[in-house]
Amino acid sequence: MTVERTLLVTGGAGFIGAHFVTRHLARFPRDRVIVLDALTYAGSLGNLPEDAMRGGRLEFVHGSVRSPALMDALTARSDAVVHFAAETHVPRSIVDALVFLETDVLGTQMVLAQALRHRDRVRRVVHISSSEVYGSAVRTPMDEDHPLDPCTPYAAAKCGADRLVSSFAHTYGLPVVILRPFNNYGPGQHLEKLVQRLVTSALLDEPLTVHGTGAAARDWVFVHDTCDAIECVLERPDADVVGQVFNVGTGIATDVLTMARKVSALAGRDAASIAHTDERPGQVRLHVAATKKAIETLGFETRIGLDAGLALTLAWYRENRARWEPQRWMRSVPVVDGDGRFSWW
Ligand SMILES: NC(=O)c1ccc[n+]([C@@H]2O[C@H](COP(=O)([O-])OP(=O)(O)OC[C@H]3O[C@@H](n4cnc5c(N)ncnc54)[C@H](O)[C@@H]3O)[C@@H](O)[C@H]2O)c1
Repeated sequence: MTVERTLLVTGGAGFIGAHFVTRHLARFPRDRVIVLDALTYAGSLGNLPEDAMRGGRLEFVHGSVRSPALMDALTARSDAVVHFAAETHVPRSIVDALVFLETDVLGTQMVLAQALRHRDRVRRVVHISSSEVYGSAVRTPMDEDHPLDPCTPYAAAKCGADRLVSSFAHTYGLPVVILRPFNNYGPGQHLEKLVQRLVTSALLDEPLTVHGTGAAARDWVFVHDTCDAIECVLERPDADVVGQVFNVGTGIATDVLTMARKVSALAGRDAASIAHTDERPGQVRLHVAATKKAIETLGFETRIGLDAGLALTLAWYRENRARWEPQRWMRSVPVVDGDGRFSWW
């Protein structure tokens, strides 16, 4: 079989990365994928398609994006890089920001430096940024020119990486594209994230906990939609996308309390199963994507509505208990706040 393209996917054993790899290999039978993943607590080989690994179309490399030798060798064999690798959980960044800067900022610097070194081969670098770089909405919907005002160390690290990527387009003409997905959810996400905590609490017959009043509102994107947005970016000609930023969102904001009620109803629990805890420091009040640029330039629009996406997610967690049971103890993260108070979130 002639190989059409080789994609280097960093962080491909994590939640979104593994969905992307699985869908990409199914959709493009002549492509090969190399996954480079450090397998932190958030990554798992079990997320990746075993048949593709056995068949040789998927090569897994255990290691860090911060390793110059590894990144050099793998980038040299790649036509495009999709860069997911990051530390991703906001509360963890409040406990210990250092590893977020190391992976999210310095790791991105390594991805860019190696892509530059191998620019004769690498035709596109897709950087997976985050809507968190915007901070709370000062105008809605939030377009790609919305001010950047990250509210947590995670968001600040992602913002640093996002701007570093942009600088490589300006300075060196590197063919980069930045995607800013809003809050993703779906099957296989780590239990520390909100939707997974709600879903698994519902399945375990525990209270569904919500920070503060639950009024914080987000734009919830089913993970398959994000994967499709990345495919659109990989397909578009340079003139349409290089050096550009695109939101990946639905344009609809739903608050956390409503999310808890939806999950509770889907799981057949009653509204009394929702409990409130302290508000989270650095909480973003409102996030909602402007979708116009992605629709007009990429021809991309999300397809999976919130109710359908939550139903798919709940069904997966119901049917795959053995996959997530071992993570139960990681649903809360120990946090020390600015006053030195210790608590679990
Ligand atoms: N999940 C969301 O809601 C969301 C929203 C917007 C943007 N993003 C971004 O999308 C990307 C993927 O998010 P996710 O939810 O899949 O995260 P995740 O935490 O599930 O996966 C991250 C992956 O990166 C790997 N990794 C960590 N450090 C590494 C290193 N030094 N070298 C190589 N691999 C390393 C981990 O092992 C893991 O497999 C991240 O960049 C994140 O910031 C996520």
